[in-house]
Amino acid sequence: MPTSSPLPPDLPLHTTLSRWLDEHRERRNRACMPSVTLAWAQSWDGSITLQPGTGLALSNPDSLRLTHQLRSLHDGILVGIGTVLADDPQLTVRECPGPSPQPIVLDSQLRISPQARLCAPGQRRCWVLTSTEAVPARTDIDIIRLPGDAKGHIDLAAALQALWQRGIRSLMVEGGANVITAFLKAQLVDALVLTVAPVFAGGYKAVGDMGHLTRAQLPSIAPLHTARLGDDLIMWGNLHYGAPHAGEPS
Ligand SMILES: NC(=O)c1ccc[n+]([C@@H]2O[C@H](COP(=O)([O-])OP(=O)(O)OC[C@H]3O[C@@H](n4cnc5c(N)ncnc54)[C@H](OP(=O)(O)O)[C@@H]3O)[C@@H](O)[C@H]2O)c1
Repeated sequence: MPTSSPLPPDLPLHTTLSRWLDEHRERRNRACMPSVTLAWAQSWDGSITLQPGTGLALSNPDSLRLTHQLRSLHDGILVGIGTVLADDPQLTVRECPGPSPQPIVLDSQLRISPQARLCAPGQRRCWVLTSTEAVPARTDIDIIRLPGDAKGHIDLAAALQALWQRGIRSLMVEGGANVITAFLKAQLVDALVLTVAPVFAGGYKAVGDMGHLTRAQLPSIAPLHTARLGDDLIMWGNLHYGAPHAGEPS
């Protein structure tokens, strides 16, 4: 289980998170895998948007800036094709100084649009992880073909290995809900940074069906850290995974 020393409370939040993420990177890299940070913004009731397919700006300007600072602390940033189709994100660092991470999309069926802003000229060439042999409609992306899992989605462990081989040592996963849930279920997340906006949205929840788990088997966060950025609450901590599912090898 990962351990972390108590975080100095008096440092600026960005520095505190940076040191904490360095610990994860070093530990995970010893196993020749990128560290994985899951980061998203949600309402108090756990909604990341009102309904899938539409975007909802939840973060206040300060927490949005922190998200961009977090991006700049990672080598790669990954989202699912659902998020690309809904939000048309750029996934760059614009709200603070710092390098933009490598943009990466999980897109089994190559549904990415030729107009996606993610692949706009002048940006880093987007890496699209796919399991289809189809030829993409656009040539300004890098295709990485990977095996599909039982549901036909990208095998996430294989994806992390492929990213490691291409030099990615730390990966920030920004969503959406299907991707968040899949990474948690696969027990591949090391660190979590959550922005909680003080609203109730009653919408599309960040985490979906985790399967039949007992309380002891649920992924948990410890130690848990919190800070306020205006009215937004920033929560972060290490991910721990409980006992394996019944019938699975330990
Ligand atoms: N508040 C926030 O911080 C935040 C952040 C991000 C997104 N969002 C919102 O979330 C919504 C999108 O979420 P979503 O759940 O619809 O889509 P998503 O999680 O972004 O993408 C899901 C899609 O990714 C592809 N995929 C490939 N491999 C996968 C794997 N191993 N596991 C899971 N998915 C895989 C699948 O499509 P294929 O099978 O076709 O490849 C799947 O349908 C949008 O409305 C967006 O605004 C909010």
